[in-house]
Amino acid sequence: MSGVQSNGKLHLGNYFGAIRNHIQLQEKGECFYFIANYHSITTLQNAEELRKYTFMAAADYLALGLDPQKAILFRQSDVPEVAELAWLLSTVTGMGLMERAHSYKDKVARGISPSLGLFFYPALMAADILMYQSDKVPVGQDQIQHIEMCRDMAGYFNNAFKKEVFKLPEGLLSEAPKVIGLTGGKMSKSDEASVIPIFGESADIKKKVMSIVTDSKGVSEPKDPDQNVIYLLYKLMAKSDETAQMEKGFRQGGMGYGDAKKLLIAKLEEVFGGAVRDKRKKLEENPDQVEDILIEGARRARQTAARTMEMVYAAAGIPISKIKKALLNTGLDRSSNE
Ligand code: TRP
Repeated sequence: MSGVQSNGKLHLGNYFGAIRNHIQLQEKGECFYFIANYHSITTLQNAEELRKYTFMAAADYLALGLDPQKAILFRQSDVPEVAELAWLLSTVTGMGLMERAHSYKDKVARGISPSLGLFFYPALMAADILMYQSDKVPVGQDQIQHIEMCRDMAGYFNNAFKKEVFKLPEGLLSEAPKVIGLTGGKMSKSDEASVIPIFGESADIKKKVMSIVTDSKGVSEPKDPDQNVIYLLYKLMAKSDETAQMEKGFRQGGMGYGDAKKLLIAKLEEVFGGAVRDKRKKLEENPDQVEDILIEGARRARQTAARTMEMVYAAAGIPISKIKKALLNTGLDRSSNE
């Protein structure tokens, strides 16, 4: 199981760092993927944009090859019990653990307002993972600490209530290449200029690539490919002989920055244009189709969630009243989705 935030357009960093891996894993086991819109709201507080990016993230996954017959795709907010579970986990979690979270400190250092929600983020993430009794959580390096925190919280809960309610998940560090941003650092949503969106307009992508800043070395001069944004991005997508050719051109001279940029643009078009972009466009034009997939995903996710919450309530002493029972059953049968 894994989640992706929906606080902006998904970009190449998301694709090569996580999405590609998520989609490949659908062939290997039972997968739950969700759009983490409750997490996204810690940094995106604009209703229209949050709705739009949540839809777009789902459409992106589907266009890129997520098969709803194989993997469950749903919106986090369609299983609102995760917020309740996060609360219950917070009652057994020490402040010390939360205060060690790197991601929180990094975000605050980058100027994001230190809200209680931002601080609580790892508890909500732990609830996501534990809700589905997940075995493996494929994430990038930056999320490994959150998985460790989740394991800690699972243990605290089991200990506090003397019941093995949760099994301890493992992080699955994706073998993901570093995706360099257009401005030379990591490709990251927090720096708009660094990003190539997966499904941008061709003209915009072209413009962004053409404006990558390079030094003033001429075509025939040798250049170091390893420090070169154009080469490093090209390498993520090109076949090995194509990569070797660009590398050679840079090292020996003969490959100019302008030509390399054109090759990169063509490669982006080859990988994310054509059939993939058409599929993405069709989904954009048929939002009901995406909605149906998300609702069916939520129905299946809720089946697992309901079982977990019953155990949680029983262990913690929360009565499974008529009301709670009805809430847990909401959305479980197919007919109720219509
Ligand atoms: N924090 C993750 C990220 O920013 C997204 C996320 C939310 C997640 N809940 C999760 C990832 C549960 C894995 C499991 O990438």
